Amino acid sequence: MNFELTEEHKAIQQATRDFARTTLLPGIIERDNAQKFDPSLVRQMGEMGLMGMMVEEQYGGGGLDTLSYVLAMEEICKIDASAGVIMSVNNSLVCWGIQQYGSEEQKQKYLPDLASAQKIGAFCLSEPEAGSDATSQHTTAVDQGDYYILNGTKNWITNGNLSEICLVMAQTHPEKRHKGINVFLVEKGIAGFTVGRKEDKMGIRASDTHSLMFADVMVPKGNRIGPDGFGFKFAMDTLNGGRIGIAAQALGIAAGAYELSLAYAKQRRTFGKPISEHQAIQFKLAEMATRIEAARLLVYKAAYTKDVGKDYIGEAAMAKLYASDVAMWVTTEAVQIHGGYGYVKEYHVERHMRDAKITQIYEGTSEIQKLVIAREILK
Ligand code: CAA
Repeated sequence: MNFELTEEHKAIQQATRDFARTTLLPGIIERDNAQKFDPSLVRQMGEMGLMGMMVEEQYGGGGLDTLSYVLAMEEICKIDASAGVIMSVNNSLVCWGIQQYGSEEQKQKYLPDLASAQKIGAFCLSEPEAGSDATSQHTTAVDQGDYYILNGTKNWITNGNLSEICLVMAQTHPEKRHKGINVFLVEKGIAGFTVGRKEDKMGIRASDTHSLMFADVMVPKGNRIGPDGFGFKFAMDTLNGGRIGIAAQALGIAAGAYELSLAYAKQRRTFGKPISEHQAIQFKLAEMATRIEAARLLVYKAAYTKDVGKDYIGEAAMAKLYASDVAMWVTTEAVQIHGGYGYVKEYHVERHMRDAKITQIYEGTSEIQKLVIAREILK
């Protein structure tokens, strides 16, 4: 078993680390406060090749493996988990889904713009009454021959305002339950499609989360992905990969908070010595490092399993379940190590703690991951 990264993987890791520190770190506190993500930063991430890392080169992407993507996500999220979720949704939910299941025409039309971040994508599954219970889609897509007529509301949509290309799940044949759901490529600007409320969030505040409304939106039949009734399978398959991305986000948040805590513990003095020389702090650092390393192994293993073409449903769910718990625990300890300084924004760890919480919720809550893992074990 080889635990060494290749030279290419190390180069991706280093380049992303440098980018995050020089470009994302300045202004992160202001962006978090203002709940604003600077679109020019997304464009720069596109120029860096971070927005379509796994898209094949012929469609304008990086043609890289999932491990490369995970390494980059980890580095981005050590600094800015909001940028991380924008990147994650575009890469693993939108680009991957289109590349895997889109027609040749759809791939040529949409992937180059998405991979270069000329346009940003959104994944629209959740609804006011369909979060974990994703089969209960209330958004309808009525077949009208050349068009589908879309009606409904989507909630908590990452990139909701920023995006120009949306993957929208909707129910066409309610009697068939999840087998009646379709998925459509819907572009902003089409009549009847409006952006709704911006969410005032606890964490990942510098990312863009909105509700989206569809009122008699006419979507051409050619914008449906896959055969009739394929939408739920599309959503589940895409989310399996997305969960690896969110696990990497959680890992990055934890590692970022740990690195800050380690540096702080070496320079902060109490009772006549650096706090890193107090066993109470040493034990915290030791446990943080151990849990992060365990999460890293699960996340990299999930990426590897996907890259070698094996079934990775269970690996992805385990990585997300564990890494998100580690992120919550490590960031809480990071605030504790920093004491009063940890509770104020300037020291960054309180943001990491707020950002960590969502990783236990989106792209399938921890409870849903346990359900998925149990089904994999028992099948
Ligand atoms: N991979 C592939 N297929 C899966 C799957 C998985 N992980 N989980 C379920 N399925 C399949 C099942 O095999 C079944 O297919 P068949 O009927 O062909 O056998 C089908 O999906 C329905 O499954 P169930 O009959 O088990 O339905 P259920 O209602 O009992 O459970 C669920 C479904 C697993 C709970 C599912 O609804 C789910 O994953 N919910 C969580 C939704 C979610 O993750 N939302 C995230 C929103 S997107 C987001 O957060 C993005 C963002 O902005 C950051």
